[in-house]
Amino acid sequence: MSDKPTEVAAVEFRSVSKVFESGKQRHTALSDIDLRIEQGEIFGVIGYSGAGKSTLVRLINALEKPTSGTVLISGDPITGVPESRVRHLRREIGMVFQQFNLFRSRTAAGNIEYPLKVAGWPRAERKARVAELLEFVGLSGKARSYPDQLSGGQKQRVGIARALATSPKLLLADESTSALDPETTGEVLRLLKKINRELGVTIVVITHEMDVIRAIADRVAVLAEGRIVELANTFDVFAAPQAASTRSFVETVLHNRPDAEELKRLGERHTGRLVTVDIDDEHRIGEALAIAARAGVGFEIVYGGVSTLQDKTFGSITLALDGPEQAVEQAADALARRAVGIQDEPERSIA
Ligand SMILES: Nc1ncnc2c1ncn2[C@@H]1O[C@H](COP(=O)(O)OP(=O)(O)OP(=O)(O)O)[C@@H](O)[C@H]1O
Ligand SMILES: [Mg+2]
Repeated sequence: MSDKPTEVAAVEFRSVSKVFESGKQRHTALSDIDLRIEQGEIFGVIGYSGAGKSTLVRLINALEKPTSGTVLISGDPITGVPESRVRHLRREIGMVFQQFNLFRSRTAAGNIEYPLKVAGWPRAERKARVAELLEFVGLSGKARSYPDQLSGGQKQRVGIARALATSPKLLLADESTSALDPETTGEVLRLLKKINRELGVTIVVITHEMDVIRAIADRVAVLAEGRIVELANTFDVFAAPQAASTRSFVETVLHNRPDAEELKRLGERHTGRLVTVDIDDEHRIGEALAIAARAGVGFEIVYGGVSTLQDKTFGSITLALDGPEQAVEQAADALARRAVGIQDEPERSIA
């Protein structure tokens, strides 16, 4: 897990930059990336289109060469070494793709068997391993089906089984659920989590969807214009996003805080002063309501929600505080003194 760094990182980037040049055009896809992905964690990388996510993942398995800097796999450089060394290190790395990249002319079993053939496994061992993998991904009944006979989620499970065939220690998943509907996405993400927890495989998940990060990542790096603008535990990123692009990603999935427009609508429908307070394991809803009650104001929850993230309580509520001005002021002050965030009505918080 991420909170206990091991000596050797599963993946390490040391001052890595990647510049693409075509003719006179130069494009810096990644700038000066320093990064450690610890053994056994699920590490998320999120960013908008063009941020450099795929370039980053392609540097890990040396499908791209950095313009400068070093990439290490379990402490061994995969950059600046002979191709035979790259091939050797790549055996420890599995890859899952957005468009599955299955051979249409081979069955599910045939697709999963392929990397074992390449690695020179004897036939009987190949068959046993394929059966084991089909079972692990829940597709024992589909061994003889061709990709065209499988659903998107089933195809991706074949892709995952194929990536796991030679027991890599590291799995790279670049937009592995982007072609799937929400329910199927959930199934695939649960499978990735099972692979991480049961097999101890380190997983790097590349996505542009914050829901994917929320569902499985232990830690997350936010990539914007080729730079890491934020890197933290997933909980912390959701609870207190720092960079502007992180905040906009978090807002795409968290609907417990009213935005400016919603706040205006709430203001029209409720007479009281609207105060939004964060809720977590130490700062519960009951406590916030008790503060309002002690100040002698009327209160109502008009917006908000509480959920769980990485086994911790997480959310916020918006209260409409009603009553004599002084009491409302006192209640708002007392709520603001709680250690967690508060968002008062904008025009009042300026004063
Ligand atoms: N082979 C290449 N030659 C030139 N430019 C490239 C090449 N590969 C990527 N780029 C550029 O580098 C930048 C980062 O691309 P990359 O594919 O890593 O982004 P991404 O974050 O994966 O985006 P998406 O979410 O659309 O997949 C983009 O501006 C892209 O146009
Ligand atoms: Mg990409």
